[in-house]
Amino acid sequence: MRLEQLVCWEAVDAADPVTRAAGQLYERTLDPDERIPWASIERSVGRPVATGGWHKHLLLAAPAGHEDDPGWLAGYTYGAFIPGYGGYLCYVGVAPWARRLGVGTKLFDEFFRTMRADARAAGGRLPFVVWESHRPDEPMAAAERKLWAARVGLFGRVGGRWVEGVDFLSPNFADGRADPVPLQLFVKPVDLPLAAFTPGRLRRVVGGLHEQVYRNRPGDALYDGTLPPGCRPRLVPARRAGEADLVTSG
Ligand SMILES: CC(C)(COP(=O)(O)OP(=O)(O)OC[C@H]1O[C@@H](n2cnc3c(N)ncnc32)[C@H](O)[C@@H]1OP(=O)(O)O)[C@@H](O)C(=O)NCCC(=O)NCCS
Repeated sequence: MRLEQLVCWEAVDAADPVTRAAGQLYERTLDPDERIPWASIERSVGRPVATGGWHKHLLLAAPAGHEDDPGWLAGYTYGAFIPGYGGYLCYVGVAPWARRLGVGTKLFDEFFRTMRADARAAGGRLPFVVWESHRPDEPMAAAERKLWAARVGLFGRVGGRWVEGVDFLSPNFADGRADPVPLQLFVKPVDLPLAAFTPGRLRRVVGGLHEQVYRNRPGDALYDGTLPPGCRPRLVPARRAGEADLVTSG
């Protein structure tokens, strides 16, 4: 079954009960070490874009006719167009009752459309959209393995490719003193052809994510740990992120 009559729209009022429901879904579906406080996301809702700044968007989805009912919120995604860089999808989540019905796919597609519109409005192109995901440590519990398979399946379905060869070291948001959290990166080429994503170009995409989003620069431990000398990232089908995981688990 698919939710054919699914509506996606942009949240413009942080106090709206449906926006609040997105916050609850966010906190329920992502581990604390993977997420920033919802308040930081909420603050961007309905705010004008500063000149040259990020174009942030919180997109919501619900079955048609139920857009005003927090109980029917099917999912959300949050991210930004970063001028001079590309699109960055920070988070996506689908309510447990709405999974495997095409909601995640629709949210990604709507996010890509929004990124293209932002790039055009800024007078430029959208080279790519990038996003991160935390692959659970081995050995994975059955539920973790299922969720990772769902993520990788969704990422591939929407045209994302896995950045093989990179563990992106991000800070642990739940505990700033804990070890960094290694994330897997996924890139959807948009206005740049796939062949343009050479290892050198991918290093710039990965380094750019550190600089733009995490404010890390070459010489910082997380930046240098992510891109050690000799690291040659390449874009491969998203499903390989799942396969690599099966290989290392023996
Ligand atoms: C991952 C998640 C967003 C998927 O959303 P969804 O709405 O269920 O995804 P879709 O229905 O659009 O599925 C798209 C494809 O993803 C794959 N997929 C989704 N759920 C799957 C599952 N449980 N098992 C295997 N593959 C799955 C399939 O390839 C599917 O296509 P198909 O149904 O035609 O086979 C959802 O499970 C979720 O919110 N999980 C918790 C939060 C989370 O992990 N967010 C991602 C953080 S990076």
